[in-house]
Amino acid sequence: MSDTIAFRLNGQPVQLNVDQDRTLLWVLRTDLGLTGTKYGCGESHCGSCTVLVNDRAMRSCALTVKEVQDKEVVTIEGLAKDGSLHPLQQAFMAHDALQCGFCTPGMILTAVSLLRSNPQPSREQIIRGMEDNFCRCGAHTRIIDAVQTAAAAMKGVR
Ligand code: FES
Ligand code: FES
Repeated sequence: MSDTIAFRLNGQPVQLNVDQDRTLLWVLRTDLGLTGTKYGCGESHCGSCTVLVNDRAMRSCALTVKEVQDKEVVTIEGLAKDGSLHPLQQAFMAHDALQCGFCTPGMILTAVSLLRSNPQPSREQIIRGMEDNFCRCGAHTRIIDAVQTAAAAMKGVR
């Protein structure tokens, strides 16, 4: 059933007339053109569709758009500020923490959420926090290195 759904997306108010039971993933990609959010499994397993909802990493393939009514959604397109990449984006580049890049938006947004809840994680805590996001290219070691570098660069700033 179509309805009006309003939420904030990357800092801007958004109002859409959509079937409220569609997934946030496909509304972002097809209605709003934000293709940085990737479709991997569609079943909440791989993490490639991860976005932030009220600062928490969530799988947009497992959320209906009505579930983000009145919430704050951030996608990879909204992470850079004033023309500067987020420290996690910078660290992923510095460590070459990607190959094809398909998992990267979900990895980075999962790491943002991790560092917000635990700004100075141990390496073990980073591994545990990132292990449910899959990288088919096998870049996990460099991804963990990048998150560790970003945590140090951010010095506990959330
Ligand atoms: S596409 Fe959402 S978890 Fe895989
Ligand atoms: S860089 Fe290709 S899936 Fe992770």
